[in-house]
Amino acid sequence: MTTAIPGPRIAAVAEEFGTPVWIYDAERIRRQIARLRQFDTIRFAQKACSNTHLLRLMREQGVAVDSVSLGEIERALKAGYRPDGADEPIVFTADLLDRATLARVVELGIPVNAGSPQMLEQLGEAAPGHPVWIRINPGFGHGHSRKTNTGGEQSKHGIWHEHLASALALVDRYRLDLTGFHMHIGSGVDYGHLEAVCETMVKQVRLSGHDVRAISAGGGLSVPYAAGQPEVDTDRYFRIWDAARRELAGELGHPVRLEIEPGRFLVADSGVLAAEVRAQKPVGSNHFVLVDAGFNDLMRPAMYGSAHRVTVLRDGAEVGAPLIDTVLAGPLCESGDVFTQEPGGDVLPVPLPRVEIGDLAVFHDTGAYGASMSSTYNTRPLIPEVLVDGPETRLIRRRQTVEDLLALED
Ligand code: LLP
Repeated sequence: MTTAIPGPRIAAVAEEFGTPVWIYDAERIRRQIARLRQFDTIRFAQKACSNTHLLRLMREQGVAVDSVSLGEIERALKAGYRPDGADEPIVFTADLLDRATLARVVELGIPVNAGSPQMLEQLGEAAPGHPVWIRINPGFGHGHSRKTNTGGEQSKHGIWHEHLASALALVDRYRLDLTGFHMHIGSGVDYGHLEAVCETMVKQVRLSGHDVRAISAGGGLSVPYAAGQPEVDTDRYFRIWDAARRELAGELGHPVRLEIEPGRFLVADSGVLAAEVRAQKPVGSNHFVLVDAGFNDLMRPAMYGSAHRVTVLRDGAEVGAPLIDTVLAGPLCESGDVFTQEPGGDVLPVPLPRVEIGDLAVFHDTGAYGASMSSTYNTRPLIPEVLVDGPETRLIRRRQTVEDLLALED
């Protein structure tokens, strides 16, 4: 399913707020949340899209939040999350605790999902009894790209499964309050891996000899970026995890809360990036079209070779055939600033309508890891974010100015 925001609406937002611009559809986010209601806790991995207005929407829908930095903790607080509510509204997940974050999680009592033994030690020293989760690296992972695989020997994430006993010894030494175990093996998980993760989870809880109140399935639910890619079967996903949870609850003799921690699944297909076509030129056998958004705005194609569906709008109407093989690129002073490229970096011409200067190029399914991965490379200010909700249109982040950027260096 791709973004449902109609062309005339996208054109109107681009007209009002200028280009490039991120646009999100609130209704679509609510619909995605509803698809996961079987899980006891839906915890949004806000790294996917951390705008505080979207976090507020999540909170209003009863969705908890994952924070991976001090900044993301402050975002959650600004969105109205309470640090100490039931079922842990905010959890801090990381592989290290920098000093400022350590002080803040202790001050607020925010549970820490520990990805290294040092986190347990440092937290235990600072705040014996603090609530913790343990993130386990089960020894294998899976991802849509090597760079999004977060398990196995090449991954820095989590506590290696063979070292769980020594991590638990630290939990005991500092009387840390263990909520449960967490595994996130990567983004774009398939069912085979999912079953293996569940098996490992059950095995690790058994081996640990510790009681747990909850287990977390992590995130990683995939979304169909291209036509023909399947939608994730959320019922099947739940059934696999629910079986593991029931097995544990039976053995432990009490209910075990089941969490899921998606980022992309909740927001990817809510968002588009609208950019204006500003130039086009033949380069040898390639036809280049240049738009006013670059990889500083949408980084996924340059970083992973990810492909986003692109449509072209002229006066709000979608332009159709004839299609010509096109290399779509941005304005940055760097040759990798190309939206249609192979994972290795070679340009990849894709069939697109014949454009005119002033057309809008709309990059679909960019609600996840779009705005949140943007940078100001080439001294390009961050672009605005706009939320549409039924008839309402709201600017939820203004366009950064060059003055904003330069002020940091005064
Ligand atoms: N939980 C943890 C501990 C994570 O590290 C992540 C993602 C998630 C949940 C959410 O994963 P998701 O459901 O969104 O797949 N920038 C990459 C994705 C990196 C994900 C990093 N961790 C991309 O654009 O595809």
